[in-house]
Amino acid sequence: MNGSLLVDNIGELVTNSPGGGGGPLGIRRDAALLVEDGLVAWVGPARYAPAADRRVDAAGAAVLPGFVDSHAHLVFAGDRAAEFAARMAGEPYTGGGIRTTVGATRAASDDELRATVRRLRAEALRQGTTTIEIKSGYGLTVADEARSLRIAAEFTEDTTFLGAHVVPAEYADRPDDYVGMVCGPMLAAAAPYARWIDVFCERGAFDVDHARAILACGQAVGLGVRVHANQLGPGPGVRLGVELGAASVDHCTHLSDADVEALASTGTDDGGTSTVATLLPGAEFSTRSPYPDARRLLDAGVTVALATDCNPGSSYTSSMPFCIALAVREMRMTPAEAVWAATAGGARALRRDDIGVLRPGARADLVVLDAPSHLHLAYRPGVPLIRRVLHNGVPQ
Ligand code: NIG
Ligand code: FE
Repeated sequence: MNGSLLVDNIGELVTNSPGGGGGPLGIRRDAALLVEDGLVAWVGPARYAPAADRRVDAAGAAVLPGFVDSHAHLVFAGDRAAEFAARMAGEPYTGGGIRTTVGATRAASDDELRATVRRLRAEALRQGTTTIEIKSGYGLTVADEARSLRIAAEFTEDTTFLGAHVVPAEYADRPDDYVGMVCGPMLAAAAPYARWIDVFCERGAFDVDHARAILACGQAVGLGVRVHANQLGPGPGVRLGVELGAASVDHCTHLSDADVEALASTGTDDGGTSTVATLLPGAEFSTRSPYPDARRLLDAGVTVALATDCNPGSSYTSSMPFCIALAVREMRMTPAEAVWAATAGGARALRRDDIGVLRPGARADLVVLDAPSHLHLAYRPGVPLIRRVLHNGVPQ
């Protein structure tokens, strides 16, 4: 759709572009925003707003960048509601259910997998998510990982090869062979559809040597690094991510002082080279586990992102507002920190500077809330507060 579009009558505009006294969220009052060719063309006081072909009246509500969900596993079949119910009755989460989803995913047709991704992508968009990263990891054969990523790439630029999610049952007694296969034919088949490589570095999944070998193979063919680390217990995953210059280490539930220091040493620079700690409170909610301590990371100067981890096992939510509310209530984040982490933080975790901000030149990805302030995202948990979404400047 061509032509310019003016969003005006904005009560509170969260730009994430600091300066001008708006705090870290770069908040502007009585602002307007002009969209042209899918990009933000102008931001300024409403009284100076340029003429436009069309108008979106925000009616005094808050407007913020669309959410950036930098961690999701959407390519799968089946669900694990019974496993969830068992956990709520006292069973622990071990990651063992991943193999159940692998079986269902292998048995599904391309169209069935595509329909699930489409449904969850639409569900997330309705809740304000304008960018979503999508991982493979429930195929675990050369063909099933390649098709998972091929389908994911139909929906996002940020696709992640997670062939090293767990060792599949047929390789259970020869994990070295599986790692060799991941680094060889599986990576070759997956890489054309992937921007990132990820490993589940955890007891019961991949140890640090296997994880390092797999991530290094991915880096060698140009993929960026992300790591599932320190989710179920302490371990070397976070420091491995820092060692390899990962864009993000995800979960970070069990951290030592050395882990926090290693993350802090990567800095918070705008140049996009720091390693972000991506926290996934939906997983702790759905596995009834202690939440990560976001305050400790923030106070140490670590860049923090929030994401859903949407998957059928440990976190079957696509809702970034839900994650913001959990982070504020359970992880000692302020509402402003949580909103930043769910927008600009996610963009940092994906090493992107065109999203997560509302400034001239950025993508016109934004949400209009049914509320006067970003505070309401945590203050009114469970309430559908996303009134409108613009994605690439197009009202959805
Ligand atoms: O990020 N931890 C590893 N992978 C997923 C869970 C996958 C599953 O249980 O199906 C996660 O939580
Ligand atoms: Fe995950």
